[in-house]
Amino acid sequence: MISLRPLLLYLLHALSSYGAVLRNFQVTQPPIIPQDAQKCTVKVLQRDFAFSYGSAEVVELTPPTECGPLGSWAAITLNLTVTSNGTQYDRLGHFTFQNVEIWRTSTPEPTRGDGIVWTYIKDVSQYMPLFAKPGTFIFQLDNLIQPGLDGVYSTVVHATYYASSRKHPPAKKADLIIPLSTFANNTGNHASVPPGFSLNVTFPRNAVKAFAELYASGNSQEEFWYFNAANKFLPSLPSGITYGQGSFREVRLLIDGQVAGAVFPYPVIFTGGFVPSLWRPISAYGALDLPTYFLDVTPFIPLLTDGKPHLFTIDVASAEDDRTTLQNWYVSGLLQVVTDPSSKPTTGRITRYDASPFAKAATTGTVRPTEVDFTVKATRKIHVEANIVSGSGKTTHAVWSQDLSYSNNQNYRENATFQVLRQSASGSVLSTHDGIPTIVDVFSYPFDVDFVFLAADQRNWSTRIDHSYERVVLPNPFILGSTIKNHQITDGFYQLMTGGNYGNGTSNNTFSYVDLAGNTYSRQVNAALNVITLDREGGNLAHSGQQATSSSTSEASQSHFGGARLPGGTKI
Ligand SMILES: *[C@@H]1O[C@H](CO)[C@@H](O)[C@H](O)[C@H]1NC(C)=O
Ligand SMILES: *[C@@H]1O[C@H](CO)[C@@H](O)[C@H](O)[C@H]1NC(C)=O
Ligand SMILES: *[C@@H]1O[C@H](CO)[C@@H](O)[C@H](O)[C@H]1NC(C)=O
Ligand SMILES: *[C@@H]1O[C@H](CO)[C@@H](O)[C@H](O)[C@H]1NC(C)=O
Ligand SMILES: *[C@@H]1O[C@H](CO)[C@@H](O)[C@H](O)[C@H]1NC(C)=O
Ligand SMILES: *[C@@H]1O[C@H](CO)[C@@H](O)[C@H](O)[C@H]1NC(C)=O
Ligand SMILES: *[C@@H]1O[C@H](CO)[C@@H](O)[C@H](O)[C@H]1NC(C)=O
Ligand SMILES: *[C@@H]1O[C@H](CO)[C@@H](O)[C@H](O)[C@H]1NC(C)=O
Repeated sequence: MISLRPLLLYLLHALSSYGAVLRNFQVTQPPIIPQDAQKCTVKVLQRDFAFSYGSAEVVELTPPTECGPLGSWAAITLNLTVTSNGTQYDRLGHFTFQNVEIWRTSTPEPTRGDGIVWTYIKDVSQYMPLFAKPGTFIFQLDNLIQPGLDGVYSTVVHATYYASSRKHPPAKKADLIIPLSTFANNTGNHASVPPGFSLNVTFPRNAVKAFAELYASGNSQEEFWYFNAANKFLPSLPSGITYGQGSFREVRLLIDGQVAGAVFPYPVIFTGGFVPSLWRPISAYGALDLPTYFLDVTPFIPLLTDGKPHLFTIDVASAEDDRTTLQNWYVSGLLQVVTDPSSKPTTGRITRYDASPFAKAATTGTVRPTEVDFTVKATRKIHVEANIVSGSGKTTHAVWSQDLSYSNNQNYRENATFQVLRQSASGSVLSTHDGIPTIVDVFSYPFDVDFVFLAADQRNWSTRIDHSYERVVLPNPFILGSTIKNHQITDGFYQLMTGGNYGNGTSNNTFSYVDLAGNTYSRQVNAALNVITLDREGGNLAHSGQQATSSSTSEASQSHFGGARLPGGTKI
């Protein structure tokens, strides 16, 4: 008689070792790809990022020829899959192709023993003009190996090109993509600001439309920019609790020194933020795919098509007297340009320009023996109009308007043992070309943090974060318009300990996606102590292959975090 015992033991072992690998993810919609199209997948790179500081992976990427004419694809996606086993901080990653930043990501902090794995599928179809020809592809992931930090990020990146057909037409694409980048050939092409980053750009003389996309994220003393204190109130707080320069930040795009548009950025929390166990295995929204921002610079076309170089500047301004920030922000961008079939220069005139150099902002507050409380409120309005006459004689009236508001209240009690943040950024961004909406961005980013040091030695603390990302966006004519709503509430505890910090937490997420092509997706997913306790998907994109993969894991991974970062700096 055959005993079932060995088989059962084998199965149990197989299941538990499979289940022990922690699968990290960020809630997002699956990529919009034609499921039944012919596809060509190429391996872009494979690299173990160990001590990789200053040593990016630089490869040549050549498009496949088996999926139709180059640049005629219905969609292109990148698949980043990473494993890591050990102790490590979260790290920022930049993908640059043809000198254009095309994806900014960050890494979940790994566990030790069984390790972690994650996959993120990034839709890069809007960068089709870059992918249509061979070029240099750079993945910068600056990691450090040093005593106490041994986690290596083992990465593999594949690109998939989906053939177009009668059923799946080629993705819409710009005639030209102009980088707003450093043009470095051995590392990421983003710039560190302050001071602002500027470059001269010469437009084709027959350009008729131009849409900017900006990348911006706070780093180091600006990682928790929303918790930075107004300089006037900083001396009233215990030293080392946070940094100065206030909490208001606007990313500005200037053309020849004039404001062309502004962004009130979404606060992305990386996986080492506040309490690392809050983000294990569900990262904060945006951590694996940082949001980007869209501006219509078409009204400036009459200036830009004179055949001369024009100075484009990206900077980040605060509401303090000197309008600057601490170090640092990483910024970059690109311009999606449409040209006229005629080779004759575009002409026209800006008929209205109404934009002040900086947002209108005011800081108020009170200092009491046991409480420091301050608020900054800011508003920003921009309105630009122009008549544009193409070489073929078509006249377009372009209108660009932004109406943004921001409010941030910080309350510190009992010598900053209790730190409460209440922030909201919201606004509407609209451009029309002959009355037709061309760029739309109606956003709301409410963000609440309740942070408590549980003992005077500041070696343990708890944090509750309630934040949302709500965005109705028509980014530009090359990206599908969508409505995305994400709500995440997390709470947890963290204890610094020799031999492995301890943390716990719960995370509840509600996500929904609807786009103008009728695609829908929703997901409700909760985690407690690293274990997924609820996972429901809905909508017509459900189960179509993004990262709806979750698994439970062992208790062991509640320790061994790379480290926590707090508004005042790193805690080890
Ligand atoms: C992404 O790449 C990983 C590693 O190569 C692979 O296992 C996985 O199936 C890929 N996912 C998709 C959706 O292509
Ligand atoms: C993770 O690394 C440790 C050594 O630090 C090793 O003992 C263990 O086998 C590794 N786990 C996996 C899944 O490779
Ligand atoms: C990279 O840039 C440097 C400095 O600009 C230049 O000297 C070098 O030739 C470039 N390398 C390649 C491969 O283009
Ligand atoms: C832009 O061009 C002007 C005029 O040629 C030059 O003075 C300036 O230094 C350039 N700026 C940058 C950032 O390249
Ligand atoms: C306030 O907190 C700081 C550390 O943030 C500490 O050095 C100081 O002793 C505390 N003061 C009082 C009165 O508790
Ligand atoms: C926080 O740390 C203090 C002293 O370091 C300790 O007495 C207290 O029990 C800790 N709190 C929790 C909830 O573990
Ligand atoms: C998440 O939902 C669970 C179940 O409803 C609840 O027990 C937990 O307190 C929630 N967590 C947060 C941070 O709201
Ligand atoms: C996390 O740990 C703290 C301190 O030990 C405890 O008070 C809290 O109940 C724990 N939370 C969960 C969800 O287990």
